[in-house]
Amino acid sequence: MHVGTDVDEWEETLEARYPAPPGQFRTVNPEKVKEDFRDYRAEARPSVREFYRRNHQQQTLEFVRSKKAEYGALGRKQMGIWEAMEFLNTLVDDSDPDTDLSQIEHLLQTSEAIRRDGRPRWFILTGLVHDLGKILCLFGEPQWAVTGDTFPVGCRFSDRVVFAEFFADNPDTHVPDYQTPCGIYTEGCGLDQVHLSWGHDEYMYLVTRDYLPEEGLAMIRYHSCYPIHKEGAYSELLTDRDQELLGWVRDFNQYDLYSKSHSRPNVAELRPYYEDLIAEYFPPVVRW
Ligand SMILES: [Fe+2]
Ligand SMILES: [Fe+2]
Repeated sequence: MHVGTDVDEWEETLEARYPAPPGQFRTVNPEKVKEDFRDYRAEARPSVREFYRRNHQQQTLEFVRSKKAEYGALGRKQMGIWEAMEFLNTLVDDSDPDTDLSQIEHLLQTSEAIRRDGRPRWFILTGLVHDLGKILCLFGEPQWAVTGDTFPVGCRFSDRVVFAEFFADNPDTHVPDYQTPCGIYTEGCGLDQVHLSWGHDEYMYLVTRDYLPEEGLAMIRYHSCYPIHKEGAYSELLTDRDQELLGWVRDFNQYDLYSKSHSRPNVAELRPYYEDLIAEYFPPVVRW
């Protein structure tokens, strides 16, 4: 299956928005560290703008609720984790194959960077599976409903969300109940109670919620929620426990964003190690 634009184009713009702080990430490519902060908005390709225009226009509370109901039953497919990695890898993009990693390579680079740092086994496994929710693309979901930054719906759209101006075209902007700081939620209700825009994060959380520890689930569920974990928006909705979990999400984020400059992982060589790790936490067949 070919996707019109690079499925990870938005992640490339993430690296421009949030360059690795010097010295903070031990395994990062030093050439990347040297890069100055760049204006991601000026650099963003027209396709990235168009992606966010569609995303911000169509991610409404109603849309999110309907997708959670549709996918929450996990009745679409039954397959093991490694099988899902191979399935995701059939998602081919049209960009330069010399510089872009396949989906499976991104997963293994992330998990290998975590492993090199001697982190716990569940953390390594979380790195391995964190983007498997992108198989939503293979279930026919448009890219704007799979990838990109996520943000709360059902309360006021923060101007700290990337391309926030496109929220002007979101129908929820005209629902007064949704446009107070807490909207349909109450102060300090906890992130678990808040509907985030629909995409691969929430879907993969639904798939893995019975199998991974709370910290790993937070990494999976919130890793694209840059307005909260990087920009500090929506703090009025969070609990103290959320703040602790967001520390883990930020910890994970450096491996997700900054492990891409390493050499290509040898998939066949790494497979036995990861099959064992998968079997420690997941049943042989998982519901998707
Ligand atoms: Fe992701
Ligand atoms: Fe990722």
